[in-house]
Amino acid sequence: MKVVTTTAELRIQLAESRRAGKSVALVPTMGCLHAGHARLIREARSLADIVVVSIYVNPLQFGPSEDFSRYPRSFDADAEICAVEGADIIFHPHNLYPEDGPKVTLTVRELGDSLCGATRPGHFDGVATVVAILFNAVQPDIAVFGEKDWQQLAIIRRMVADLHMPLEIVGVQTVREADGLAMSSRNRYLNDVELEKSIALSAALRAMQTQVANGERDVPAIKAVGHRLLLESGIEPEYLDIRDAGSLKALDSLNGNPARAFVAARIGRARLIDNIPIETMTETP
Ligand code: PAF
Repeated sequence: MKVVTTTAELRIQLAESRRAGKSVALVPTMGCLHAGHARLIREARSLADIVVVSIYVNPLQFGPSEDFSRYPRSFDADAEICAVEGADIIFHPHNLYPEDGPKVTLTVRELGDSLCGATRPGHFDGVATVVAILFNAVQPDIAVFGEKDWQQLAIIRRMVADLHMPLEIVGVQTVREADGLAMSSRNRYLNDVELEKSIALSAALRAMQTQVANGERDVPAIKAVGHRLLLESGIEPEYLDIRDAGSLKALDSLNGNPARAFVAARIGRARLIDNIPIETMTETP
């Protein structure tokens, strides 16, 4: 496994594989890798000849009062996980933007306004911009993203379609702790009491899923069940919502199309998000 820090070096590393007709998969990450990322790398490994994992904490997707400077960084442990999962290259750039800052960036429209976009203005513009840079640097055939960031995944799928980018986007199911908590690099911010409290997020989503399995189709009624469970655990969510899985449009009632339940909440120093499928034919997360 090679570690490269510049796009030029990366291109040299990939040139020979490309000449030999090998396929390339990219797993974009901000490091602080956990079992969820390991699953993404494994998926990439099963789909392509060469697996590139990018590790870059992207300043452009953090708001001024967000956790960019204290975002956990753990390169040695990350490299270990990449090696164990069979990555070929770690792309670990120091900076992906010009010295005087980016002057041309992408703008995400409707898909980026709701859910996380409502309280994190510019976040998805920053994500789309860095992902486009990574796609240009690596030129992968496939890129693999986790479903935990469902809105991000929906936006990237749409970016690839709208901008005619020549690659396939693969989404991978969220990996959870035994108690249901979705794995996240930000779980490291939580103490034991907060970890215990965080279980309510996935429990609320599952309670909503159960309502649907029991025949409820009215979205406010389904949301009320999730809200009650969160409030009982002392959590005031930033949002708790059910939306169309593809367009992310708000729904009044379930119409048989794939939908998802989404939640975000601040617990201690962490802002946590989660989502699960809510369909009339309910699947388990
Ligand atoms: O999901 C993440 O870790 C980041 O948003 C991504 C896709 C690597 C872009 O910085």
